Amino acid sequence: MPTVLLCPPDFFDVVDQKNPYMLRESAVDRAKAHSQWEALCSILRENGCEIETIDPVKGFEDMVFAANQVFVGEKNGYGKFAVPSHMVYASRQREVPFYADWCRARDYRIIELDYASDYLEGHGDLIWHPDGSRIYGGFGFRSTRGGVEKFTAAMSEMGIPVVPLQLVDPYCYHLDTCLCPLNDEAALVFPGAYTAEALASLHKFWKRIHLLTAEEAHRFMGNGIVVNGSYITPYVTPQLEAMLHQEGLTPVIVDTSEFEKAGGSCFCMKTFLP
Ligand code: ARG
Repeated sequence: MPTVLLCPPDFFDVVDQKNPYMLRESAVDRAKAHSQWEALCSILRENGCEIETIDPVKGFEDMVFAANQVFVGEKNGYGKFAVPSHMVYASRQREVPFYADWCRARDYRIIELDYASDYLEGHGDLIWHPDGSRIYGGFGFRSTRGGVEKFTAAMSEMGIPVVPLQLVDPYCYHLDTCLCPLNDEAALVFPGAYTAEALASLHKFWKRIHLLTAEEAHRFMGNGIVVNGSYITPYVTPQLEAMLHQEGLTPVIVDTSEFEKAGGSCFCMKTFLP
């Protein structure tokens, strides 16, 4: 049974502009946010997931985005590990110790990186190939090239290669908005989010790349959750539905409108635990 970590949106809000989606005019409806979050949890449960939660902390308006504070994994001979992030925004950096402690209390090996002036934002920018053979590392807006390099050095000790991918579209400031693995062979990719070099590397590692349009990517259709043959997504288009169908996946729609005001959707709100 897949286990997934989420954080209730008790203190969720949009108070500043960390990414281009966060406009001050779009006030958050917290009651609506709560029901959308509950609906996401129900859909995950219906798809066979066990849900674990971390306690929300007052004043941490983005803590609901549980994909960013730690990168987790498991490797034969090393066990479960967690790499605490170095978040760009100070308010988000304060979330990190809570997630690191959560992992420490569950016996994850904590791998601290010496970031200095580099940044790394967990599963927002670091995405496992589904078979665990490598990790894709996005950089350019939030994580830095140096952050991904330091992470790469740490992973190489466990024999896990990291593929660096430079991002260029501010609306795709995290890799999880423009790369979504569907299975070991296929991924959804929004090509406009990458340098030519990054796009060429992606083509090396996936047999089938299904291209999203800018419209789809900017509405978080590449920020879905793949589980149990479902693709949990805030919206779907006929072309996305056809691509999912080719890969044996069925779209399941969950409204995340309140969280989109903060620049996040389904994928950003959870971390699959090893
Ligand atoms: N407001 C949050 C931020 O800008 C959104 C994070 C979205 N997370 C993600 N994995 N894309 O930090």
